[in-house]
Amino acid sequence: MVFMQIADVQDEIDHELVSKAQIERKIAQVAAQVSEDYRNKDLVLIAVLKGAVNTMAAFSQALSIPVQMDFMSLSSYGSGTSSSGRITVRQDLSADVRGRHILIVEDIVDSGRTLGWLVQEMQRRGAASVEVFALLEKPSRREVNVAVKYKGYDIPDEFAVGFGLDYNERFRNLDSIAVLKPEVYQGEHA
Ligand code: PRP
Repeated sequence: MVFMQIADVQDEIDHELVSKAQIERKIAQVAAQVSEDYRNKDLVLIAVLKGAVNTMAAFSQALSIPVQMDFMSLSSYGSGTSSSGRITVRQDLSADVRGRHILIVEDIVDSGRTLGWLVQEMQRRGAASVEVFALLEKPSRREVNVAVKYKGYDIPDEFAVGFGLDYNERFRNLDSIAVLKPEVYQGEHA
């Protein structure tokens, strides 16, 4: 299979943060653990659109147990670069989570506001348990403390794109995580 790699967009990328091989290795490790932890349990994976779609697809395919997958679209208001506290549901889950085991699959935890809200919301709806797998975390930007049971990689506070993460809806299909050149988001890139 051919993937979009850094070489394909190299004039806009400064450097790689997490390679395709590292992403695959981490997802395989976590998937093996989750397959063990939830064997013979009714597990629903939940991803927030759109950034978590790549992680959700790769992670679900690495599991060796049957799961249900569901998606939610949320809006957050505030500054463009990080989510504010106010979150509304744009498109809800189709699953009823009451009495079921929930694993939230996230691409990145930044301030933690999205995840903090979602964990509480799943508990409010009566989930039997709620845990989190986050492929990436930016610990330096955390404002809301949420327990991430299945951890991926910590990354520095840089403008990261790829594997679901976007800049103006671009780079989501990059096969690794990379840092954008500042001139791209400062509007100086031709
Ligand atoms: C990103 C990411 C998380 C959230 C994390 O989504 O997918 O859901 O931000 O940020 P937080 O920890 O500060 O809440 P974004 O709002 O950029 O939407 P997208 O997934 O559609 O790109």
